[in-house]
Amino acid sequence: MKTKNQSLFNQDHKIADKFTPSETIVVYPGDCLNLLKSMPDESLQLVVTSPPYNIGKEYEKKLHLDLYLQQQSHVIAECVRTLSPKGSICWQVGNYVDRGAIIPLDAALYPIFSDLGLRMRNRIIWHFEHGLHCSRRFSGRYETIIWFTKTDDYVFNLDPVRVPQKYPGKKYFKGPKAGQYSSNPLGKNPGDLWVIPNVKSNHVEKTEHPCQFPVELIERLVLSLSNEGDLVLDPFLGTGTSIIAAIRHGRRGIGAEIVPKYVELARERIQQEMEGTLRTRPMDRPVYDPAEAGNSLSVVPWGKRESEQMTLLEKRPNYGKRRR
Ligand SMILES: C[S@@+](CC[C@H](N)C(=O)[O-])C[C@H]1O[C@@H](n2cnc3c(N)ncnc32)[C@H](O)[C@@H]1O
Repeated sequence: MKTKNQSLFNQDHKIADKFTPSETIVVYPGDCLNLLKSMPDESLQLVVTSPPYNIGKEYEKKLHLDLYLQQQSHVIAECVRTLSPKGSICWQVGNYVDRGAIIPLDAALYPIFSDLGLRMRNRIIWHFEHGLHCSRRFSGRYETIIWFTKTDDYVFNLDPVRVPQKYPGKKYFKGPKAGQYSSNPLGKNPGDLWVIPNVKSNHVEKTEHPCQFPVELIERLVLSLSNEGDLVLDPFLGTGTSIIAAIRHGRRGIGAEIVPKYVELARERIQQEMEGTLRTRPMDRPVYDPAEAGNSLSVVPWGKRESEQMTLLEKRPNYGKRRR
């Protein structure tokens, strides 16, 4: 069962620009460390973010990896301080690329979290099907979300994020439950490999920001790792996605963004969410399959000879005459 509790928020709801304990939506225009320093210990239930990856995007200065990790460690330490004992931190990252060689940022960041006493619960693979085409390595088609908790007594709500079973009609075939349906009628655990389209060119959520994450990705984390009324923080807010996911499900949302044009964009999108006009891709919609949809572009336009390469894997090898 999914909640869609917007009753806490309506179009007249205030979007504050400073944190105070009574605010329910805060877009802080500035450095996340300053926002975090204004927040009390153990006040957050969920921190979810996608930090700069240090790959030279317009909003970041490419730093030596050690310096980047040092900067991240200051933010992470403040997130841990402000996290409630039942809370979670989700850090969504990709690769740092150094002259064509990749360094997975989750691996580089892991020691920072574990040295602060956090415990990793999942390393979620977020698989998307589109992106840059590489010519000297396989094209990157996933990023990860590393999920940590502060203690062993943490919030984890599985039911709101269950997904449809592959074989809902399956039954126990032996034992005392033989003949009864074996699957949970609420659906199955979504697992740790999530196939969700990324926000690229014709995605309904695309803005001018170069690396937004999709609202549905964060909705799943908000629903499973926090309860209604809880406080959700995104220290690197970008276009406001985490706050949108939070308020859509009746949580309070806070974030910091250092670039003024993205602060404006975040405020606009949050306002649209409260007015009910923000267009987003719905959670759990199956990924578009062009061939299944009959899209004419999915038909191979070139001749038979080239298209044969697509069937190579299906060809039977010839091992010579077989004796029966
Ligand atoms: C990877 S993007 C996050 C995008 C976001 N997840 C979304 O869906 O729009 C990282 C963002 O962090 C912002 N940023 C970088 N350093 C910051 C800092 N010290 N404090 C606050 N925001 C910062 C960047 O301007 C950028 O918009």
